[in-house]
Amino acid sequence: MSILQLKDANKTYGEGHKKVEAMKNTNFVAEQGELIAIIGPSGSGKSTFLTIAGGLQSPSEGSVFINGHDFTNMKEKQRAATRLQEVGFILQASNLVPFLTVAEQLTLSDKVKKDNMNAAERDRLLTELDITDLLKKIPF
Ligand SMILES: Nc1ncnc2c1ncn2[C@@H]1O[C@H](COP(=O)(O)OP(=O)(O)O)[C@@H](O)[C@H]1O
Ligand SMILES: [Mg+2]
Repeated sequence: MSILQLKDANKTYGEGHKKVEAMKNTNFVAEQGELIAIIGPSGSGKSTFLTIAGGLQSPSEGSVFINGHDFTNMKEKQRAATRLQEVGFILQASNLVPFLTVAEQLTLSDKVKKDNMNAAERDRLLTELDITDLLKKIPF
């Protein structure tokens, strides 16, 4: 089973003479372990594609399957829950909480989402990346 699939998905913004076809009819499949770069000039629809593929917004037409979950017909609440479990989305801006230390950001994500890596795994990773001294810092 593919981990991500877009079937005949497209996106238009606006109506009438303001209508913009941001993503033309798209069929796309990603398999587990694939590393895929979406490239194109500014305004070509990369962000539109990625936010649809990540379940952050819906296509105007067509369907999106993430790990077998049909995002197209989900209610927003269920979509948010599935996105939390199935999707990692790194935005251009960091979107971290500006007044929390790195350690506190990690505590916050543990409160929001269960089954994150445990304390021992986290310590090992921080040590491996040599960033334990960042835990007390504000991320800006
Ligand atoms: N929310 C929006 N409302 C109207 N037009 C939009 C919106 N978002 C993107 N567009 C338009 O859709 C097209 C694709 O934009 P985008 O997906 O942001 O491209 P890229 O990320 O490749 O620069 C552009 O013409 C852009 O102006
Ligand atoms: Mg963009």
